[in-house]
Amino acid sequence: MLEVRDLTATFNREGTPSQVVNRIAFDIAPGEAVGFVGESGSGKSVTARAVMRLAPEGSSIAWGGRILFKGQDLLALDERQMRDVRGRRIAMVFQDPMASLNPVMTVGQQIDDMLMRHMGLSQGAARKRTIELLAQVGIRDPEIRADDYPHQFSGGMRQRVLIAIAVSCQPDLLIADEPTTALDVTVQAQILRLLMRLRKEIGMALMLITHDFGVIAGMVERVYVMHRGDIVESGQVDALFADPKHDYTKALLAAVPRIETARRSA
Ligand SMILES: Nc1ncnc2c1ncn2[C@@H]1O[C@H](COP(=O)(O)OP(=O)(O)O)[C@@H](O)[C@H]1O
Ligand SMILES: [Mg+2]
Repeated sequence: MLEVRDLTATFNREGTPSQVVNRIAFDIAPGEAVGFVGESGSGKSVTARAVMRLAPEGSSIAWGGRILFKGQDLLALDERQMRDVRGRRIAMVFQDPMASLNPVMTVGQQIDDMLMRHMGLSQGAARKRTIELLAQVGIRDPEIRADDYPHQFSGGMRQRVLIAIAVSCQPDLLIADEPTTALDVTVQAQILRLLMRLRKEIGMALMLITHDFGVIAGMVERVYVMHRGDIVESGQVDALFADPKHDYTKALLAAVPRIETARRSA
């Protein structure tokens, strides 16, 4: 479904080009869950944003290579065509739910908007679907909560709202960029379980990005390890856990708390 080849990302910092993703290649099959792991600054978010063709806020970036989505090169689409893909076919959940929500709109309005814009639903049909979506992501009393503003939700509940927005159009691919990093540990586990459940229910593929191997254990089938803008190792997650080849992968695995490794085999 997704075939990425020779992908480069080059920031333009005051006229000085700086390449932060170095001709990487990766694939995601329909419905597949794939992990991207690497330390902070290794290029995970920029890679994810390449698939959405979104430069980080306030920056200028040049993409190179090919991002084939169902055979079509996303890097060759014009901005209007790309807007149809974004949200509708490929959706993304970011690390910081507060920064991704509009503080002056109720969460219901924000989900309604997605459904009206991308799915062509009427206001009434959109609200009905919004309430179903809020229930599907585990928000109680969704009819009432739909009229609340983002600040009236806890961090974990806000992330559920963002996930509801992301899956509202039943995308083929959900990109989750460190979706639980800002949350406390018990809430993290709930959000990860929610992502797995939705992936099955919707039949979508999942690109799960994290700096923590513990997060992807038991979540994904395959993993790509990123280091300084390169993919240094990839493979089935169990094989990689059992026998990492690259020193950097070994170092990342050594940093996983024992309890996470235990949970994985439980
Ligand atoms: N807005 C930006 N402007 C310039 N450089 C950036 C920007 N965002 C990220 N970078 C650089 O790109 C590289 C990869 O960053 P990123 O993809 O965010 O890493 P990760 O998500 O793995 O922590 C880093 O060297 C980072 O400093
Ligand atoms: Mg990042």
